[in-house]
Amino acid sequence: MENIAQIDQKIQALMWQMRKETLVKMQQPFSIDEKSGRKDLVTTIDKSNEQTIISKIRELDPTAQILGEEGFGDQVNQINGRVWLIDPLDGTMNFVMQQNNFAIMISLYEDGIGVVGYIMDVMNQKLYHGGTNGVFINDQQIEAPANLHLKDALIGISGPLLIDNNHNLQQIARQSRGPRMYGSAGIEFAKVLTGELVGYVSYLRPWDFAAGKILAQALNLQVKTIDGGPLSMLSSNVVLVATERASKEIVTLAN
Ligand code: IPD
Ligand code: CA
Ligand code: CA
Ligand code: CA
Repeated sequence: MENIAQIDQKIQALMWQMRKETLVKMQQPFSIDEKSGRKDLVTTIDKSNEQTIISKIRELDPTAQILGEEGFGDQVNQINGRVWLIDPLDGTMNFVMQQNNFAIMISLYEDGIGVVGYIMDVMNQKLYHGGTNGVFINDQQIEAPANLHLKDALIGISGPLLIDNNHNLQQIARQSRGPRMYGSAGIEFAKVLTGELVGYVSYLRPWDFAAGKILAQALNLQVKTIDGGPLSMLSSNVVLVATERASKEIVTLAN
């Protein structure tokens, strides 16, 4: 395998290529299927994006495991060694209904530790990327957001969790300046990175949070389960990403 700086340049280029291809494919007819039901869609673009990304990563890093949402990667049962996580289209419902507010995400973990993460906000032409060497939006490095309290800021909460008032989330929303809901984990993580949101809570699978977790932790944000525990990288979690202050406040209110 090439060194991580070379790989990083190539994955950044791949993300821009995927953005371009996605914009082209959106203009052509594509089919939409239901997965578990009418609120869980998959398109032929989710699948073809995943296939393109996987074949490129196989070329760059042939011995790594690849975990992709649409199942074109490996059956990953353990997080040891190098593991790439891929969400080829995050916010598929938004993609279908709005043609906006969706992302493409890739990340690399080594022995369970995040190395680099990438979130492409396709319609806003913004690539959030980096790791312990810094976090960037396109070529611009960004600073850690202010360590705000919950009461002083907006909070992202997924629709289903807020509607059902799981984990006392309606009270948590009340204590903030207001809840927001964007329908793409990638876009919501990005808004926490820039400080537009003080935090984000959602029930997520590993490819939904893997890239965001690396970028958030590199900016001193806390990424935990809603109980304040560590996330499992191989199963679903109720994920909380937030400033250090808001994270403590939310965990206390939720439990
Ligand atoms: C979904 C989105 C959504 C979140 C769901 C995810 P997908 O990802 O990120 O915001 O609430 O839990 O599954 O399926 O569109 O990639
Ligand atoms: Ca999906
Ligand atoms: Ca997703
Ligand atoms: Ca997806």
